[in-house]
Amino acid sequence: SGDFSLTGRAAGTVVILGAGVAGLTVAYELGKAGYDCTLLEARDRTGGRNLTLRGGDRLTEAGGVTQEARFGEGVYFNAGPGRIAQWMVTLDYCRELGVPIETFINSNAQAYVHTRGGTVRARTAKADMYGYVAELLAKATNAGALDRELTRDDRERLLDFLRRFGDLGPKFDYAGSPRRGYLKYPALDDGTPVPGPGALHDVLAAGTGRSILNDFGYDQATPMFQPIGGMDAIVRRLTEAVGADRVKTGAKVTKITDQADGVEVVWDGGRIKADYCVATLPPHVLARIPHNLGAQVTAALRTPVPVAAGKIGMEYDRRWWEMEDRIYGGITETDLDITHIWYPSHGYHSERGLIVGYYNTGPEAELYGALTPEDRRRRAVTQGRKIHGDKYGKGLLSSVSIAWERQEHIQGGWVRWPAFDSSFTLLQRPSGRVYFAGDWLTHLIAWQAGAMESARAAVTQLHQRVLRSQ
Ligand code: PHE
Repeated sequence: SGDFSLTGRAAGTVVILGAGVAGLTVAYELGKAGYDCTLLEARDRTGGRNLTLRGGDRLTEAGGVTQEARFGEGVYFNAGPGRIAQWMVTLDYCRELGVPIETFINSNAQAYVHTRGGTVRARTAKADMYGYVAELLAKATNAGALDRELTRDDRERLLDFLRRFGDLGPKFDYAGSPRRGYLKYPALDDGTPVPGPGALHDVLAAGTGRSILNDFGYDQATPMFQPIGGMDAIVRRLTEAVGADRVKTGAKVTKITDQADGVEVVWDGGRIKADYCVATLPPHVLARIPHNLGAQVTAALRTPVPVAAGKIGMEYDRRWWEMEDRIYGGITETDLDITHIWYPSHGYHSERGLIVGYYNTGPEAELYGALTPEDRRRRAVTQGRKIHGDKYGKGLLSSVSIAWERQEHIQGGWVRWPAFDSSFTLLQRPSGRVYFAGDWLTHLIAWQAGAMESARAAVTQLHQRVLRSQ
């Protein structure tokens, strides 16, 4: 598909509230079509949740705690978005803006699955789950339990598939498989297989199955992508294309008034009147700003529920996950409160490296968010040691953690709509001359692609209206 572009040029002034990915995309597309845009951004930088932290960057939380990233040269931490699916419009913007991308390894059979049942490689967990499920289904098939669903030929076809799917033995039994991996991989001798498998009961009780489903989703399927050098390359290029001089940072909006001939927006450093306004703040933040858009709009803005999300970036003095664990990118899944450990999909074999020691949401994120940065790191290390052992606590040079629900003017990782109801659709349409945009107005919540798709929808409606009124 070609790049998005509004057709037909128009003039007009637009004030955009929020210079995150939605606001910047709105300004970028409207600017291409001839509009004169001004962005009001309460934070001190553009990008919103698209935030990449590097050595020297400071991160302040509501409540006043400030962390300074002390990462080494070239080391970065994507504190917000970190991965892009191939079908997402985000990649179109990367191409259009000249942001180079590289593979993001979302699924890695060499990474671990850690549950109360122990720690195994993802390949081992997969081999056992596929193996036992295949064995059970083959047994049921052979016992005639599926005779009503399957013809004789179908049964043969199914059994043939199950034998391959589960790597089953001659009697359709699962008794392990080289797919489970090795303690010592084959070379001159035939190696030392990972001991096991445990009995079906033990595999089920360990709960490893839950953790091998992550890349089954259309939004998480491998391969995924990331901008080279940090996710904020998207923000940097968008801001340049829009013109940094169009963005007022540190500008907190305090009032929105829809009028017959325009929209007046008051912020804590002045006021601005424009023909139209596009509000891209998080709905729970927007809901608290006085406006004259009516009670229905306020009620709709209050409907989505903020969801907490947290991450910690931990820089080590050596890439032990590559050298010792032989994990090159990917994610370890756990049933601990850290939920995931992300290994970097770039900079392989370089001297230092940064892993994401937790990436959690909801109650687990709130639990970490309530701790001091030091305690978050301590807790993350305690949990990670259960998987990686003592080395996890050694050579940790520095760390920075983010609790998105404690980030001023954002106050959440993303939102959850109790239902995609009339509140959702109401805000997809303008209220007078005020339009709304953001990932929260799409079915791609918590994706930059949602922000971009929503921006496109808003500017398309706005532009059609302007063209009609000329
Ligand atoms: N986009 C975020 C991520 O990749 C959050 C998310 C996770 C959204 C899973 C949908 C599904 O982690």
